[in-house]
Amino acid sequence: MAAAARVLAAGGLVAFPTETVYGLGADAANPAAVTGIYRAKGRPAFNPLIAHVGDLTAARRIARFDAAATALAEAFWPGPLTLVLPKAEDCAVADLATAGLDTVAIRIPAHPVAREILRAFGGPVVAPSANLSGHVSPTTAAHVESDLAGRIDLIVDGGPVAVGVESTIVGCFGAPMLLRPGGLPRAEIERVLGRALRQAPAEADGGGGQPLAPGMLASHYAPRARVRLNAERVEPGEALLAFGLGAISGIDAAAAVMNLSERGDLDEAAANLFGHLRALDGKGVNAIAVMPVPGEGLGEAINDRLRRAAVERE
Ligand code: TXA
Ligand code: MG
Repeated sequence: MAAAARVLAAGGLVAFPTETVYGLGADAANPAAVTGIYRAKGRPAFNPLIAHVGDLTAARRIARFDAAATALAEAFWPGPLTLVLPKAEDCAVADLATAGLDTVAIRIPAHPVAREILRAFGGPVVAPSANLSGHVSPTTAAHVESDLAGRIDLIVDGGPVAVGVESTIVGCFGAPMLLRPGGLPRAEIERVLGRALRQAPAEADGGGGQPLAPGMLASHYAPRARVRLNAERVEPGEALLAFGLGAISGIDAAAAVMNLSERGDLDEAAANLFGHLRALDGKGVNAIAVMPVPGEGLGEAINDRLRRAAVERE
């Protein structure tokens, strides 16, 4: 972790575990380092990054918190929540990392390795998920290595992550708005706010062609195989991504079967989602049939990622 902090200070790129997914970190205040992230991932530069900080004092140096943002930060940080807030006047995060927006995305991660790296480094660290742009997010160090080996300086292996889907993103500029469902269930956020979150329109467009959560392009969490949702039977040659122990016809002819959670537990399913998609995709099948997954709790984020994985691509 000390080595990670040194690499960051020298402008390098470090992959590290957070409780949601592995992140690819760079010094948020160093434009050359931030450029390196976009290059390593093949990520379009209009897609801004999340600044990770160690505590609320550091967060307040880069963004302005209204009452709702303060309540959410106090209730859920450190944890799987990202707040998009108006930039503070002397915000240290490089303009490139915020894609020229007047807002900045911030998160205090809960993973002890991430926290120690942030403490040792001392400044904000921008970190997208540590995958090639368009691939599913990495939930183990081996996933990071298979996408980014040779393109980055260091991978810190903290074992498999606990949550397995990316943070929930809430915009607090005006009435709080859900920009991305994620590892913190909507209901918990609405309980603290005492009101429903505004819903960002699908393919949200904040005007001037600038998407509200620009990373939420329809086809984003994409395996190579075609993904078929709400499957009621398995077609010959398809792989099956199952949920629960319910019966499904055609399973005997499936090319491969993995279960997100045999006991039907949505937290377990989220933790398994990206790893199972990568594993089934790695079997070289043409299609992955996915059984229905309920939408409550982390099911909202799971279904969101599955829908994006299922979008037809060129
Ligand atoms: O759990 C997570 O959030 C992980 C870990 C590493 O922290 N990070 C992550 O980063 O998922 P990334 O880059 O894959 O997704 C960040 C999302 C993108 O959809 C991006 O467009 C959005 O946050 N975002 C960043 N800054 C924004 C801003 N100022 N306004 C709106 N959306 C923003
Ligand atoms: Mg990502």
